[in-house]
Amino acid sequence: MAEHRLNAASVEAESVMQDFLAEMENGLAGRPSSLAMIPTFIDVDKPVPAGRSVIVVDAGGTNVRVGTVKFDESGSPVIGSFSKHRMPGIDAELTKKEFFEQFAALVLPVADKADAIGFCFSYAAEISPDCDGKLVHWTKEVMAPEVEGEFVGANLAALLAEKGYSPKITVLNDTVATLLAARGIGQHRRYGTYIGLILGTGTNTAYAERNANITKRDDLSAEGDQVINIESGNFAKCPRTEIDAALDGTTDDAGAYMFEKMISGAYRGGLCLRVLTVAAEDNLLSAQAAAAVGSLDDLSTVHVSHYLNNPFEEGPFLREAFNGDDRRIVYHLFHGVVERAAVLTAINLAAVAVKTGAGTDPLHPICINADGSTFHKVGGFQSLVEARLRRLLEPLGICWEIIHMDEAPFIGAAVAGLTR
Ligand code: BGC
Repeated sequence: MAEHRLNAASVEAESVMQDFLAEMENGLAGRPSSLAMIPTFIDVDKPVPAGRSVIVVDAGGTNVRVGTVKFDESGSPVIGSFSKHRMPGIDAELTKKEFFEQFAALVLPVADKADAIGFCFSYAAEISPDCDGKLVHWTKEVMAPEVEGEFVGANLAALLAEKGYSPKITVLNDTVATLLAARGIGQHRRYGTYIGLILGTGTNTAYAERNANITKRDDLSAEGDQVINIESGNFAKCPRTEIDAALDGTTDDAGAYMFEKMISGAYRGGLCLRVLTVAAEDNLLSAQAAAAVGSLDDLSTVHVSHYLNNPFEEGPFLREAFNGDDRRIVYHLFHGVVERAAVLTAINLAAVAVKTGAGTDPLHPICINADGSTFHKVGGFQSLVEARLRRLLEPLGICWEIIHMDEAPFIGAAVAGLTR
């Protein structure tokens, strides 16, 4: 791993963190940057009304989840009419008309349940001051190219209006929703500020920024804060290896979202298979195991996670072709890929934590709400992230805590729908 510079130790964490910070600054100022730093027009400080229902639509990687949420008097969310569906455009390419018709058909069954929709849209979308979202480009292999450049809220609203519904729609990114969900439960703890992190199929981060620092816009009141969707998956200043570049070359959007391709779930299986292929070429595996690796068409992220959690459960490496040494090597290689992802995740979080300017008072640490299967389903991942985060932030006197809550994007979308 060291020879191919794929090990965690090859990452110069402090210097990548400084580059991340500089890209954030550039994005806020409207200078060229790989970080879009998208203003969301969402203020974190609005109280959430109890007893009122809101419709939630959560379009994530492969699924769309629909339902209603109501907060009770104690502030706990109650989810109702919940259903889960395949994301339109995941299984077959759709035109714009087909995409929105399929989408509206998922929302219609709950359209009479409330007069507002919190629409969590987990893709890069430019947000307008009235909280609609214009899709910049798809990620996660969604096939509906005509939707790029379209306002998703307005298109959905038009179809709902044909059926007699006119809810107020608030579109927000999943990281923004995750941040809002944490803020809902975090008030008792009096955190200094909040960061929303998603590390699942894709990756991204959101935080609250002072309007005065968002200098690329001249229509914001100088006072006040709002949440920024960083689109951190597109960070382009992270040194890549030849293996990362080869994987990137096989994707539809080669050259884009290179950071996401190094750490997120959509690419981990593919990355690990490439690492195994290189290991076989470097004669690290037995001849039989090398041949077995050569015959693998693809490797899923789930297999990698399962192997690290229990190498004897199931999966391709239980075949006889792999002897004990092969299995040990496979373990070290996969663990190396995961360890590097943890270091890169920590760098991302550390840069954002520094940018918030908060967390210097131990009574009010920064709350990082981390969501996503890639973060939570690989045993030990969170500890690896925390260990590196401590090394990066302790010298700066910044205090933080990582929390996790069920259904964070869904609940956060409800908060947004209820508070706008
Ligand atoms: C998208 C982001 C999203 C992230 C996590 C990325 O591919 O561009 O908008 O927040 O995935 O779901």
